[in-house]
Amino acid sequence: MENSELNTVYSMPRIGDEAPDFKAKTTKGDIQMANFAKDKWILMFSHPADFTPVCTTEMSGFAERKDEFTALNTELLGLSIDSIHSHLGWVNNVREKTGVYFDFPIIADIDMKVSKLYGMLQPNESETAAVRAVFFIDPSKKIRLIMYYPLNVGRNMDEILRALEALQISDEHGVAMPLDWKKGDLVIVPPPKTLDEMNARIADKSLEKVDFYLAKKSL
Ligand code: BEZ
Repeated sequence: MENSELNTVYSMPRIGDEAPDFKAKTTKGDIQMANFAKDKWILMFSHPADFTPVCTTEMSGFAERKDEFTALNTELLGLSIDSIHSHLGWVNNVREKTGVYFDFPIIADIDMKVSKLYGMLQPNESETAAVRAVFFIDPSKKIRLIMYYPLNVGRNMDEILRALEALQISDEHGVAMPLDWKKGDLVIVPPPKTLDEMNARIADKSLEKVDFYLAKKSL
């Protein structure tokens, strides 16, 4: 198939889009995105294939840090283009070999429906396996952040948790996060939009300022 043909077939959700709806079979039963994890954040992530080494480390990472996601009001939802039988065999094998249990739903996207809908199938990387995607979906079902990693590079769990927490704190306080921000660091207050706001910002002694357009505060 020509690349131009593939580009017209597969959609690529973008930040700010409503999470496309779908029904799917998972290791914890049938789900529909529109009804899944109401009032919670959803972290939906794909892995290329069951019973592969990098994927095993990544899925174990999600499982081992599930409590941290729960504390951030976030449900985990895995996906790969494998069958339910393969998922069950892999989950059981990893539990037997390492004691780590993937206690979250994993979509069996054997017909690639969800992978195509979410741009996880990137044919110039692989025509048969999903890339390592992560979709951060907020409680209103809006996509807020997307990560795509290739087949040969595992993701970073600290960064996934950091980005999730940054989004939530940014929403809660109407602030933005600077380079390398982590919980407890100063946050950026939105820059002024009028001369009056600019003058007020210049006069404000409570902020740590480089200048009126770059000011930070603690929460
Ligand atoms: C892995 O998880 O190790 C892997 C999966 C697909 C392609 C390359 C590596």
